[in-house]
Amino acid sequence: MKQTFQKREQGAHKGTFGTGLLLAGSDEMPGSALLAGIGALRSGIGKLMIGTSRFVAGILAGRIPEAMYAHDGLKKVVDGQVPKGMKACAIGPGLPDQKAIEGALQVLFQTDLPLIIDAGALGERQYPSRKAEIILTPHPGEFSKMTGVPVPDIQKNRLHFALKYAQEQGVITVLKGRNTVIAFPDGDLFVNETGNAGLAKGGTGDTLTGMLLAFISSEKDIKSAVANAVYFHGCCADLWDKTKAQRGLLASDVSELLPEVMKNFE
Ligand code: APR
Ligand code: MG
Repeated sequence: MKQTFQKREQGAHKGTFGTGLLLAGSDEMPGSALLAGIGALRSGIGKLMIGTSRFVAGILAGRIPEAMYAHDGLKKVVDGQVPKGMKACAIGPGLPDQKAIEGALQVLFQTDLPLIIDAGALGERQYPSRKAEIILTPHPGEFSKMTGVPVPDIQKNRLHFALKYAQEQGVITVLKGRNTVIAFPDGDLFVNETGNAGLAKGGTGDTLTGMLLAFISSEKDIKSAVANAVYFHGCCADLWDKTKAQRGLLASDVSELLPEVMKNFE
């Protein structure tokens, strides 16, 4: 871990660490965009553009003044207007509109941006072969919908199913839950050992998606970027567990603990 986590270059400027596009949040689920956005910013992204509804952007602007906002960002992407200068894109947390998501994905697949696909944007589909990576972050229920394999079968053989999917579809598959499995299309397989049941709570997945966006936007090696994001996410819950009850952990606490956790690895 220490070997793959780079020290922040001291001659750096915000451009060094990339700009990420986060397509998340809707009027019914504004918190998803907030949690993912803070997760991304606490993970060291250079700049963050949040594409969300006008209503959500209005709420978020006061909570995340560090971000830029693309009003109705998902719709803009569907219309082919992908903001310029992005390094990676994450889509899905708190997005209910399946038609718009499919439209946006078809546009995003044509770009050279690494794509993190989560929550509402996950589904049963064939992924195109493209130059930039596609990273999927399903929990077992979402993975079951994607593959048709019942959850108990997945859980009995997590490594097998994650690897099979990664290789068949050519996508990085992050199968979440206790001991998150990260499977790469080339056959590499990681099992994460950090984290605890404090994370079993709505919103922690959104935080992880933001962290992945940041690490992928700012780190050179995609494998370590994905692995480090998952690892640190769990470390935050483990640090919390040292002094506080797991049941009291909030998804936003994960982001708040990140600077302390990462300090030991810089
Ligand atoms: N041990 C370790 N890690 C855990 C545990 C556990 N027992 N339980 C959960 N986690 C981690 C997972 O590995 C993952 O990183 O917490 C995170 C939970 O992510 P999600 O399941 O995606 O949960 P979240 O997105 O926050 O909340 C529910 O998911 O199904 C969608 O649309 C739904 O928005 C909703 C959301
Ligand atoms: Mg989720």
